[in-house]
Amino acid sequence: MKEIPSIEEIKQHLESYPSVTKADAELHAERIREILEIKKKHNVVILGHNYMEPLVFECSEEQERGDSYGLSEYAARTDADIIVFNGVRFMAETAKVLNPEKKVLIADRTAGCSLADNFTAENVKELKQKHPGVPVMIYINSYADAKAESDVVCTSANAAKIAKKLPGNKVIFVPDILFAQNLAEELRGVKEIIYPEEGRGAICEVHEKFSIEDINAVRKSFEIPKGHPKRMIYAHWECRPEVLREADFYGSTTQIRKDIAERVSKGMLEKAFVASECELTSNLAAEFPQVQFYTACSVRCSHMAKITIEKLHRLMKAIDSGEDLSEWEVALPEEVIEKARKPIEKMLELGR
Ligand code: 13P
Ligand code: SF4
Repeated sequence: MKEIPSIEEIKQHLESYPSVTKADAELHAERIREILEIKKKHNVVILGHNYMEPLVFECSEEQERGDSYGLSEYAARTDADIIVFNGVRFMAETAKVLNPEKKVLIADRTAGCSLADNFTAENVKELKQKHPGVPVMIYINSYADAKAESDVVCTSANAAKIAKKLPGNKVIFVPDILFAQNLAEELRGVKEIIYPEEGRGAICEVHEKFSIEDINAVRKSFEIPKGHPKRMIYAHWECRPEVLREADFYGSTTQIRKDIAERVSKGMLEKAFVASECELTSNLAAEFPQVQFYTACSVRCSHMAKITIEKLHRLMKAIDSGEDLSEWEVALPEEVIEKARKPIEKMLELGR
């Protein structure tokens, strides 16, 4: 772990985020420094999903930040004594399955996800019965007991890749209906994607908000015409199929970040709009000040937003003082851990 920055350095860095005001930096720099000190003292890893608001994102080092896939990979190889997951509960559960002997903590255990919350292990079993012998690929945005009933897990960074590697010409994909439709389009002629009927699967309540009319309006208002070499519209796989078709690039949150980094290094990006959670754009804008980002800050994931700097600080103080941590602990029944481990490990093997 690198040297802990001074309060002044933290303030300066916070001010590089266009969405963080001078007052925010002033108010929270000391708290962030204290979190970083406790982190070092107790050998804690703080995994930070790309959707974390800047104040929280600052508590994770570069290698501890990422998309669901990157963070699972990191969790699989960490030698930290305690894992604090700044993300939503299904992500922390995945880290727990991969580290059953470690303490895995989340600053707010009620941080859900409209995909994971609306699809159960029973729903997986029903689909398996309906399509016997067809492999089940479950999106990581699901709880461990639903994963335990599936053959392989995938994330938005590797769904197409893993589906192609599964046996047979059909794959059941759950629970995200819009993602499934996008995947079916991507894999047309290669794999048939079977997914839950309308009303029986789930949809991301954040990404469904972007309509094709919004994307067209963004193109017009911010002068991002289709095919422009330096102006881009990015979309996440969870968006509607017509939005993905219109986007210039689609991928996981980290794949979007990597594409931006690559274009910036070649001087090939001046304007961008990202059809995804708004804090992703806040974090990208701080990292790539050369790019003019447009953002839709009404599109925030209320579940991710539950992880605040104040709650994280309280949790870290409890670690430091040796308090009972059960309020934050992600615990799972042993048999669920055992069964869910296989499909998660299969993803780590096939998704590489
Ligand atoms: P990523 O795996 O692309 O980070 O996405 C997670 C998520 O919840 C998207 O809404
Ligand atoms: Fe779930 Fe959507 Fe929030 Fe991602 S953005 S955690 S998919 S509700």
